[in-house]
Amino acid sequence: MLVTRYLANDLFAGKTVFVTGGSSGINLGVAKNFAALGASVGICGRTQEKLDSAATELRALGATVCAVVADVRDFGALEVAFAKSRAELGPVDVLVCGAAGNFLVPAEKLSPNGFKTVIDIDLLGAFNASRAAFEQLKETHGAIIYISAGMAYMPYAFQVHVGAAKAGIDMLMRNLALEWGRYGIRTNSIVPGPIEGTEGMKRLWSPERQEEFIDAIPLRRMGTVDDIGQSAVFLASPLASYISGCVLVCDGGQNLSGSALFNIGAEQMLRAHEG
Ligand code: COA
Repeated sequence: MLVTRYLANDLFAGKTVFVTGGSSGINLGVAKNFAALGASVGICGRTQEKLDSAATELRALGATVCAVVADVRDFGALEVAFAKSRAELGPVDVLVCGAAGNFLVPAEKLSPNGFKTVIDIDLLGAFNASRAAFEQLKETHGAIIYISAGMAYMPYAFQVHVGAAKAGIDMLMRNLALEWGRYGIRTNSIVPGPIEGTEGMKRLWSPERQEEFIDAIPLRRMGTVDDIGQSAVFLASPLASYISGCVLVCDGGQNLSGSALFNIGAEQMLRAHEG
């Protein structure tokens, strides 16, 4: 984990970081980066077993952990989760809104309830968590980090529900930066690129075409959960104390390649002419 090599390992000592959807994937990676820098960590998710296993990993890094079952669609459950986290860890300094749902589906086959389900988990869930944690964040002059996606500003096929939800999240983030800045609360988003080994990648891209996919990423590699963890640590740290309302794209340049196949074809032609 690079953060422990380059940053003081007590950077977040005495601070509480709460990560929604923190029991797996990118979100657990983010939680681990904060844990390694001394934070106490609250996580919520829908499955007790996944939360237990994540809590064990976080405790192994030295963190005090509060893991609570709560679906972000259920505001009441989040209120209970934040009250428990406060009682056990103190008020939240950093909220990471990471809980998300995704699946590939052609728009004409997506049911209204399928569309609503992703809007509810991603967008409403992000509002619910921000709203439920507001009083604690006001007290700590805290920071919120939303996990957005490239779909927020670049249309991806079969992702109409996710594009709408993530674009909404980035606008929610900007609105709250505007309104809650007066309380010393900073809000920012991170757009992760393709992150290896995650549920999201399993759901969105065929492993047989991995090589081709990597060829279309300017940095020519998949991202790691630590790439996103490092971005989150930066945005939550005093190094970013005047940054609010910003979308930090951490994707190896992937979303620059709008017409990725065109770029690959053009490069092949250039090589053929040179050769
Ligand atoms: N294609 C089309 N529609 C789908 C679908 C798919 N692959 N998966 C679910 N839906 C629809 C369902 O048909 C249902 O709509 P209907 O009532 O009109 O039939 C609606 O979405 C809700 O499905 P349900 O399974 O009841 O939702 P859930 O709340 O149990 O689960 C999901 C939420 C669907 C997002 C599920 O995939 C999930 O739990 N994902 C979490 C993990 C994840 O996605 N991680 C990746 C993040 S990048």
